Amino acid sequence: MYDLNQNKPLYIQLYDAIKHDIVTHQLEKGTKLSSVRKMAVQYAISKNSVSLAYQQLYSEGYIESVPKSGYFVADIVHELTPTARSSPMQETPSEPSIRYDFFPARLSPDTFPLKLWQRLFIKAMKTPLDFGAYTNRQGEEGLRSEIARYLMHSRGVLCDASQIILCAGSSDAMRQIATLFQTHFHEIAVEHPGYPAAGTIFKQYGYAIAPIEVNASGLNIDALEQTTAKMVYITPSHQYPTGVSMPITHRMRLLHWAKREGGVIIEDDYDSELRYQNRPIPALQGLENGANVIYMGTFSKALSPALRVSYIVLPHRYLEAYTTMCQMSHQRCGVALSTQKTLELFMAEGHWERHLRKIRTLNRKKHDLMRNKLKSMLGDQIEIISEGGGLAIIMRPTVAIDLHRLRENALKKGMKLYCASDLYGETWEAIRMGFGGLREEEISDAIELLNTIWIETLAR
Ligand SMILES: Cc1ncc(COP(=O)(O)O)c(C=O)c1O
Repeated sequence: MYDLNQNKPLYIQLYDAIKHDIVTHQLEKGTKLSSVRKMAVQYAISKNSVSLAYQQLYSEGYIESVPKSGYFVADIVHELTPTARSSPMQETPSEPSIRYDFFPARLSPDTFPLKLWQRLFIKAMKTPLDFGAYTNRQGEEGLRSEIARYLMHSRGVLCDASQIILCAGSSDAMRQIATLFQTHFHEIAVEHPGYPAAGTIFKQYGYAIAPIEVNASGLNIDALEQTTAKMVYITPSHQYPTGVSMPITHRMRLLHWAKREGGVIIEDDYDSELRYQNRPIPALQGLENGANVIYMGTFSKALSPALRVSYIVLPHRYLEAYTTMCQMSHQRCGVALSTQKTLELFMAEGHWERHLRKIRTLNRKKHDLMRNKLKSMLGDQIEIISEGGGLAIIMRPTVAIDLHRLRENALKKGMKLYCASDLYGETWEAIRMGFGGLREEEISDAIELLNTIWIETLAR
């Protein structure tokens, strides 16, 4: 029986008490914790306090959640001693740890198929692999074939394995493209608002940046035609960050622009796997013969951003120049052989397709939950400006609320909010509400808490 008094918030006391029992082995690995309701009755405290304590223990890895069963003491904590760590809540009382993080590019850790990955990793390591040599510059043939096959049937990308270049993330991909075209092009058009990394990276390689406004059809092609840029970076299927999808007429116009100008389109199809309302429009690359489009994709959104695996599909006519560029710049494939081989098995054995179905269903649920909860709690005080895909809903307040203060107030309550002004200043204001990193059962409580903070911020 824990002795809870009134000096400290009750949920912190409960958190401390349970944590103490876990690290001193009084609560053994696998022990089931009482349900939130039972615990609340036992200590005559609110269910919310118990929930908060459990969530904190969960987020620090002391307990695990088993769907429909409850919370269990985790294994990892047996490596800790009672003095190894003290409560972060005690150390930094003015900065509560983050309970709800709406980071828009995060996946919840339990969505990664860890056990399967471990099994495939071991299987891959039992095949003959040469760890004494550098790997293929573009990546291993087997994985490139799997990616080419997947892109053709799921995104309509016209390609074969020889065109695939494996990269260690999209920034690596853009650095390679920037190096490849450095002597051809001196200017690149980018979307505004758009993915900040694109402008930053091309600028580092000496390109002049031409920001082009985004309208309801995506990149404004009239504005592009008024620049001298012959290269353009776009996210046509799900514009980052507005969520706009470029209609077919505009896609065709853009392809004609590239043909006419001898230009190149970099199509970043970063989260095409995650569509919840409509079927995604096929990639722009596949609309003509793909000759003027460099297609980019990543495993960061649907599998794991920690793996660092992305890819480029390079038109045939640039492959020779790419090989020369690699030789001159000592470019090597940045993805570990072990990761490549495991991913190859993951795709070849059909797990990727199954994983996509699962992850889409899960994220659709989280997306719908968040959208419905936002609408029911904040109603017409917000306008949802992007939904239906990816890992975040983008919203904008329709009432005069100080977003800076909202964010500060949220932080004090353990909630991290992301405002677009961090990326675009006052030119494009919105709140990016990532749901990918939250567990399904957390979303309702998170939005309810946001609503409370919202009301408090408006009141003061
Ligand atoms: C537009 C865009 N492209 C690409 C990526 C993925 O980058 P990476 O492959 O480096 O994880 C992101 C991630 O948020 C993105 O927003």
